Amino acid sequence: MDILVTGGAGYIGSHTTIELVNEGHNVVIVDNLSNSNKLVIDRIEEITGKSVTSYFIDLLNKDELDKVFKNNHIDAVIHFAGFKAVGESVALPLKYYSNNLVSTLNLCEVMEENDVYNLIFSSSATVYGKPESFPIKETFSTKAYNPYGRSKLIIEEILMDLSHSNEKWNITLLRYFNPVGAHASGEIGEDPNGTPNNLMPYITQVAVGKLQELNVFGDDYDTVDGTGVRDYIHVVDLAKGHLKALENIEANDRLEIVNLGTGEGYSVKQVIEAFQEASGQHINYKIVDRRPGDVATSYADPTKAYEKLGWKAEKDINDMCRDSWNWQQKNPNGYEEK
Ligand code: NAD
Ligand code: WQD
Repeated sequence: MDILVTGGAGYIGSHTTIELVNEGHNVVIVDNLSNSNKLVIDRIEEITGKSVTSYFIDLLNKDELDKVFKNNHIDAVIHFAGFKAVGESVALPLKYYSNNLVSTLNLCEVMEENDVYNLIFSSSATVYGKPESFPIKETFSTKAYNPYGRSKLIIEEILMDLSHSNEKWNITLLRYFNPVGAHASGEIGEDPNGTPNNLMPYITQVAVGKLQELNVFGDDYDTVDGTGVRDYIHVVDLAKGHLKALENIEANDRLEIVNLGTGEGYSVKQVIEAFQEASGQHINYKIVDRRPGDVATSYADPTKAYEKLGWKAEKDINDMCRDSWNWQQKNPNGYEEK
């Protein structure tokens, strides 16, 4: 199939592009490089041995986006592009609403105008807010606690309206849990700007000596050891979930919502231990206050992904830690030119 990948130079988009190309799909990337680097495209081409058409344009520019559709045949779109930093979204809500919402509206308008109706959207487990029971099913109620999460919820609702408006639409909303890890080559991975907000890149930067110690946000939660529990999922498994969603998009209902997680929760301390084991590096850490807005626990019920898409995660926490470490070791400064 001919697939447009928005945000294809980003962390999850680049890994998904590799899986798509390896499966014989033809990929066109659109990315404004606001949170990524052109080098990613070279690395994707080196890894796959195939060339990938890339447009470094902004989805906010509808005319430019339309040209991409006019100049390329597109069967389906996987829409990763967007801003994703929760803390920044609290400080700069308008930046998040305008980028995440307007780019999605533009994309959907251009898709309709060009008769393309297959769309996979990157949603997030953040839309479940503070669930009362676990594992989390797609039928659970949703609530946003920050502008980033609200932008995801609003987009989900817009896409639901769209799916009702015209039976041609086939839309899959994938709610990711906590993506970590990197491609086995160590050539592509997560490259956060500045000090990482998320646990795994923070740990790898401590391991490589860029940061001194990890702050563990609270050890007084009602969990196995008091630290927060999450459903970490290897980014390559996540990428493969998109291929399965694509294969099934026309067979499934007009709009499907699917969790992508492993179904298993690991505490912060368990992740530190697994990382130490996988890397042979010692991780200095200290316990600090809880981070405002954090929940104690989050893990998916991935049953629907198996039933509807025939997908389940295959990689475990050791694979995730090993591959995150391999990427960080090979690229201590991320994609910054060496
Ligand atoms: P990322 O920042 O690495 O990738 C997003 C890409 O989109 C970047 O390359 C950025 O340059 C591009 N982009 C942003 N705004 C754009 C615009 N207006 N026009 C063109 N390109 C634009 O993020 P990621 O981790 O790969 O996440 C991909 C998607 O998955 C995002 O929508 C994110 O909200 C969602 N998601 C991520 C996580 C996570 O923890 N990484 C979890 C759940 C959901
Ligand atoms: C994981 C655990 C922290 C950093 C975020 C977004 C969510 C989604 C994924 C996009 C928690 C603890 C973390 C640190 C720590 N993104 N931690 N010290 O918060 O589950 O999810 O990324 O959709 O929307 O909110 O992920 O990696 O930040 O935290 O102790 O320096 O690690 O408290 O228990 P989170 P995370």
